Amino acid sequence: MGSGQWAVIAVRLPTAHCPLTTPLPVAYRIMNIAIIPAAGSGSRFGGQIPKQFVEIAGAPIIVHTLGKFDECNEIGAIIVALRSEEIERFEQTLKAHRIRKPVRLVQGGAERSDSILNALEAAKELQPEIVVVHDAVRPFVSTEQISAVIGRAREIGAAILALPATDTIKEVENGLIRRTIDRRRIWRAQTPQAFRYDLLLRANEEARADNLPSALMTDDASLVERLGEKVAVVEGLASNIKITTPEDLALAEKFL
Ligand code: CTP
Ligand code: MG
Repeated sequence: MGSGQWAVIAVRLPTAHCPLTTPLPVAYRIMNIAIIPAAGSGSRFGGQIPKQFVEIAGAPIIVHTLGKFDECNEIGAIIVALRSEEIERFEQTLKAHRIRKPVRLVQGGAERSDSILNALEAAKELQPEIVVVHDAVRPFVSTEQISAVIGRAREIGAAILALPATDTIKEVENGLIRRTIDRRRIWRAQTPQAFRYDLLLRANEEARADNLPSALMTDDASLVERLGEKVAVVEGLASNIKITTPEDLALAEKFL
C-alpha cells in the first residue's frame, strides 16, 4: 500500500490540498492521525440507517464529528472505518461536505476493536506519532478537548477524556448490593482517547494474542491499561455525549 492511496482519497474531497499525482508531502508523514470507528449497526438506536448517518442540522452526525477533527490543528489526516457496503455512499457524502484534510476509508470489523485494528494497520505507512480514537457518534467534542488529550498523550503515552461520576455507584450481585464504591475514584470514560501509535498497536495485538473477549474491549484505553502502561485522564464535558439511543438524539438536537 503506497502513500498514493491517501492522495486518491484526498483528491476526492472538494477542497483537498493533496493532488492525486503528487506523493504525500513529508509533513504529513510526521503527524497525528484521527481514527473514527463508524462501522457499527446502532442496534440500541434502531431505525432504518445506522445512527452515525442520521442527519442533525443538515448533515449526518459523522460529518459533524469529522468537522471537529478537520478544524483541529494537531490532526494531519483522518481514517474512518465503515462497513464495506457503506464505503461507496460515504465517499459521496464526503464530496458533498467540506472536509479539507486527507480522509482514508477502511473496512470496519464485527466488533469496534476490529474496526480500530483495521484503521491502525492503514495508518502504519504514515508512521504517526499519536493516534486519536473518537466515536463517530460523539459530534459535540471540541477542538480544545482533542488538543488536550493529544498533549497529555505526548507526555504520558496515553490519555483519555473522562467525566467524574456524579451518581453513587453500587456493586451488585444477584440483585443485592455487595458494596458502595468510593465515588471520588470513579470516572466515566469518553472519547477522544489518544495514544502513541506504537503503544496502541501493541496493545491491540496483545489483546488479540491473549484472546481477550470483545466484551472487555469496549474502550481502547483498557487495552493499554492491561499492559501496565500509564493512561492519563483529562476532565471532559458532559456535552460530549455519545448518541446511543433515540433519547440521545433528542438531547443532541437541543445542543445545536
Ligand atoms: N463501531 C465500529 N465497529 C463496530 C462497532 C462499533 O466502528 N463493529 C463504532 C460505532 O459506529 C460507533 C462507535 O464504534 O461510532 C461506538 O459504538 P456504539 O455507540 O456501541 O455504536 P454501535 O455499535 O453502532 O451501537 P450498538 O452497540 O447499539 O449496536
Ligand atoms: Mg456497540
